[in-house]
Formats: sequence, structure tokens, C-alpha cells
Amino acid sequence: MNRTAFRSKILHFMDDPAHATAPGTIMAYDDGVLVIEDGHILALGSPEEMADLTRDIDVQHMPDGLIMPGFVDAHVHYPQVDMIASYGKHLLDWLDHYAFPAEIGLKRFPDRAKDTAAFFLDELLRHGTTSALVFATVHAHTVDAIFDEALKRNLRLISGKVMMDAHAPDDLLDTAQESYDESKALIEKWHGKGRLGYAVTPRFALTSTQEQLDLAGRLLAEHPDVLLHTHLCENTDEIERAEALFPDAKGYLDVYKRAGLVTENSVFAHGVHLSNADRATLAGAKSALAHCPTSNLFLGSGLFDLAAAQEANITIAFGTDVGGGTSLSPFATMSEAYKVSQLRGHSLSPYEAFYLATLGGARALHIDEHVGNFAPGKEADFVVLDLAATPLIKRRLAHTNTFEQLLFALMILADDRAVRQTFVAGKLAHNRDA
Ligand code: GUN
Ligand code: ZN
Repeated sequence: MNRTAFRSKILHFMDDPAHATAPGTIMAYDDGVLVIEDGHILALGSPEEMADLTRDIDVQHMPDGLIMPGFVDAHVHYPQVDMIASYGKHLLDWLDHYAFPAEIGLKRFPDRAKDTAAFFLDELLRHGTTSALVFATVHAHTVDAIFDEALKRNLRLISGKVMMDAHAPDDLLDTAQESYDESKALIEKWHGKGRLGYAVTPRFALTSTQEQLDLAGRLLAEHPDVLLHTHLCENTDEIERAEALFPDAKGYLDVYKRAGLVTENSVFAHGVHLSNADRATLAGAKSALAHCPTSNLFLGSGLFDLAAAQEANITIAFGTDVGGGTSLSPFATMSEAYKVSQLRGHSLSPYEAFYLATLGGARALHIDEHVGNFAPGKEADFVVLDLAATPLIKRRLAHTNTFEQLLFALMILADDRAVRQTFVAGKLAHNRDA
């Protein structure tokens, strides 16, 4: 039995504060103790309540700390980490000029995939992100690379081979049958190994034939516990092209629906341009949307209507969408989500933002029975934030009176410097000061 304990401010969520009002939805401790045993949450409470459980161990006391569950990135492309911050294009041009060449690079130089995956995962941990839903490329070895490296780090991570058999450079194309066969083999090889999960990953409507989308639907039907991960209604030119390519469908979302891809295991990135009918379809299917504000601003895609998605009762999470997104930091993502919401006439509360970055993400990825909050028995993936990380943060937080004010200033001002430590299944996986 290996027991450890940490004392500082603590925050986690038992439910979505946008919908739930019951006491206990938001669990915020000004002075709390988190007790971990054998990689799992044993208990959480005031120092007095935890006195018995911590009698025989050293409690690590961090008066300037804030402990919360590890962050969840519900949409990100690891092969694109090398071309983040590439100038001056909207989505479809940006794919042709930057994203596709980066992915072709991993075909021509296969050894780079492991190095890129290792770098990417270490960056996630440095930013406090402990779980993610990750695009690889169309090439199976890039899926092996990210899963290999995630397994080494014992991460609860989900990825999959991109399926794309049309309208892209030859080096990035598979065939419908190859994509089915290779995805199936990868599911058998990786799904459920360690803490890993698989996502069937057709890139988007523009780069798949009907046959490929139908086979993606067949994979989902044959494997009821894998996810579906794709892009949806990100950019107006993209939507126009999707509708032209699939004239029989009743809009972009229907292209996926007809193929059996709109399910409760589906995670759609973006959804910037949705109709009310689309939102009702997504909510009815219990599909999730990954809101990627830094990407939507950077690529000029548009302003996601978070309030409308919440009112429609859609499961929502945050994605960084690197390399379309401009930061792997959950703080940058929350800060930009706040500003996008402001421009949509709605103010995203800090509690809601931190919920979406933790338990909300875990729910969208169907990993909330394991991670996402500090319910006893869950796996101990958590971060220790430094509330005095920079002179400005320290000074600004000294002028806050409530937990909510503190969280808001933190989500606007913080970055990777505020992530002092990241723990994965109870083990230290990143130490800023080491
Ligand atoms: N749509 C299809 N592929 C991509 C991609 O790689 N990034 C983004 N942001 N959107 C996409
Ligand atoms: Zn993306």
C-alpha cells in the first residue's frame, strides 16, 4: 500500500455547473487535503477530516498551490505540433500549405513519428494535460508511435488512424478497404491496452468517399466502445464543399448521420456553424462537440456559440486543435473561449470553464468513470498549480476575494509557468522546478 497526501487549495466538479444546481456540484476547498493510495483517489476533505487517514504519512503542504484534476484536451493533432503558428491562411489553404505537408513528412521520415509523439506528450504534461483525444495521420505507424509513447507514460489517451481516401495529396490517401482493415487491426492491437482507447477517425467529409464513411460506421457498430472523432462545420468554405460533394445529404451533419457516425460515442471538433436543427440532432444523439477557440480565431473560422450549444444540452469539451490552434495550454484555451463567448453576448463563468477543461472533457471522451474529478476510487491524474507563478499573477490574486475571482484571473493570466507539477495515476510525471 502506497499512500501520499497533498494539502493546498483544491477544486473539482461532481457535475456541470451550467446545468446542475445541487450543492456539491462545485467542490472548492480553501484548505483541503487530497489523499492518494496506489494511484487512486482515496479521500478528500479538510485537514481535520483527513487527520486519521494521514496520521502515519507526511502531508506535502503547498500554501501557494491549487490542486485540480488533470486537464483534458478533446481535440488535437500531434503531427501538427511542428507547424503550429504558420502564417496567413484560412482552413482549406492552411491544410494544403502546412498541415498536409507536415503529415506527409511523417510518411517520408517514419522515425520522426516517435520523436514527435514523445515531444508532444511531454508538452501535454508540461501544460497540465493528462488525457487527450488525438489525431495521428493516415499512416498506421504514426498511431503506433503515439500509443507506444502514451503507454510508456501510462496516459489515459485516445487516438486513431486518420481515414482519408479522396481529395488530398497521394501520400496521404488510403482506400476505403485499407482504412477499414488497418483501423480494425489497430483497434485490436491498442484499444484497452493500459489506459489507451481507440477512436475511428475519418478526417472530415471533404476527404472521404461515401464508401469510406460507411465503413467507418461499420467499424463503430462492430466496436461499441470505441469513439468516433472527426471535424464538423468549422469553416464556411468547407461546409459549401461538403454540401457540393454530398448533394443528396440534408447538410454537412447529415453526411455523417447517414453513415451511422452521429452516436453517443462521437466527438465532433468545432461545430462553429451549426443550425438549431443540427444542435438538436447532436443533443438527441448524445454526441459531443470539442470547442477549439484558439484555432477558430487563428484560422478565422468563426465564433462558436457556446451558450446555444449548452442550451441545446450538447455535451461540450475544450480542444486545443494544435496546429490550427495556437497553444497546448488549457489556460489559453479557456481565456480565448471567454473572449469568443463575450463576442457572442454571453460571459463564460470561470467555474464552467474549469469544468469543461476537466470533468466535461472526460465525459465527452467517455473516460469519466476513471478520471475527471476526485471522486474516491478514480485514477489520480491531477495538477498542482502555482498561484504565485509570475509576479503579476501573484499580485493580481492577492486582490481577489472569492474562489471564483481567483479562478477567473487564473484562467485569463496563467500559462505553463503556473503548472508546477503534473501527476499521472498518482506518480509525478512533470516537475517544473526539477
Ligand atoms: N479539418 C480537416 N482536417 C483538419 C485539420 O487538420 N485541422 C483543422 N483545424 N481542421 C481540419
Ligand atoms: Zn482539428
